[in-house]
Amino acid sequence: MDQDKRNPSGLPPRLGPAALAIRFGVIGLATLCLAGAFAYTGGWLTPERLSPHRVIDGFEATSGKHIGFRRNHAKGVCATGWFDATGAAGPYSKARLLTPGHYPVVGRFAFAGGMPYVPDAPGLIRSLALQIKPSGGEEWRMAMIDIPVFPFANVDTFYEQMMTSVPDPKTGKPDPDKMKAFVAAHPEFLTAYGLVGKRVASSGFANTTYNGLNTFLFVNHEGVSVPVRWSVVPEQAFAPLGPKLEDKNYLFDALIADAAKPLKWKVLVTIGQADDPVRPDLPWPETRKQIDIGTVTLDKLVGEDSAGAACTDITFDPTVLPAGISTSADGIPAARSAAYARSFLLREHERSAKPPSAVTESEVNAGGKS
Ligand code: HEM
Repeated sequence: MDQDKRNPSGLPPRLGPAALAIRFGVIGLATLCLAGAFAYTGGWLTPERLSPHRVIDGFEATSGKHIGFRRNHAKGVCATGWFDATGAAGPYSKARLLTPGHYPVVGRFAFAGGMPYVPDAPGLIRSLALQIKPSGGEEWRMAMIDIPVFPFANVDTFYEQMMTSVPDPKTGKPDPDKMKAFVAAHPEFLTAYGLVGKRVASSGFANTTYNGLNTFLFVNHEGVSVPVRWSVVPEQAFAPLGPKLEDKNYLFDALIADAAKPLKWKVLVTIGQADDPVRPDLPWPETRKQIDIGTVTLDKLVGEDSAGAACTDITFDPTVLPAGISTSADGIPAARSAAYARSFLLREHERSAKPPSAVTESEVNAGGKS
């Protein structure tokens, strides 16, 4: 009753000029904070911050802009097959796809680097990316390369080094002084690079060992976690690297010919100890226990432009993991995830303008000889 007497209209009381100013001020501040948060996330306030955009611009500065292609590992071919889990990971991880079983796999073989038509060469870094995806279950994506360590402790150092190889507009070549300055600032790079130099390359993609390099965690049903690193080791016999051939796809053609029979890799997981380094430029002691968690079989290659090429729409983001496997204190996979998403966004938007991939569907169907 008292209320009605003070405000007979029933409408909210009118605000005086001071109260109105405060209200508009609060709304304005909230809007500014929101705009600021967007600007910060977009990197507009901190252009020096290493955003996924800058990383991808860096790949384009070093390798050129290649419409519709992955901005790294641009030259590749898709594969499909399956994973037979042994169950040996059971005490360490609760992941369903590590329990004994037979699970579908989509893969991709590639060379590292952003040039989709780079001629095949023995010294190029080879990669194998895999997606293990049980029907109706959580998937595991991994992207591995054939060197023993990643020669950078973090993404900032990786980016810094990448920028030393951007061609100088005056000479058309990278400025060697920039590389010298990088090495002087990061002496640890030379140690890791020395290990990379000891890599004994095999004759082709099929008999290569591929390493995940980053440190992840296996988590079991009791919630106990252990640091892990993984590799896939070929069942195809090792043969030493031959000479470089003139044919610009000769290593891919050899892979296509080898894939006439199913190709197999054992998935080996190294169990680390709590104080083992998470940095991918630092190897773990060779005495660490390794377990054989299963075998990947790839029995079909598919040109990545073909309608049935399942790998084309996958980023092989290393943070896509099932419950029972997680990221660790190694920050590189999170940065990779953001960069892979940016690369994917660009290549998806550019899809209709993409020129054909170097390894074509007809080359795959012809057994690597077209
Ligand atoms: C441990 C270190 C790394 C490993 C083992 C690795 C491995 C791989 C592999 C195997 C692929 C090819 C996947 C495919 O065939 O589709 C790939 C793609 C790619 N990587 Fe990495 N990478 C590493 C670090 C990085 C870093 C530090 C960056 C940049 C921050 C990066 C950026 C990319 C990008 C942009 C792609 C293309 C993604 C797409 O469009 O699908 N990688 N990486």
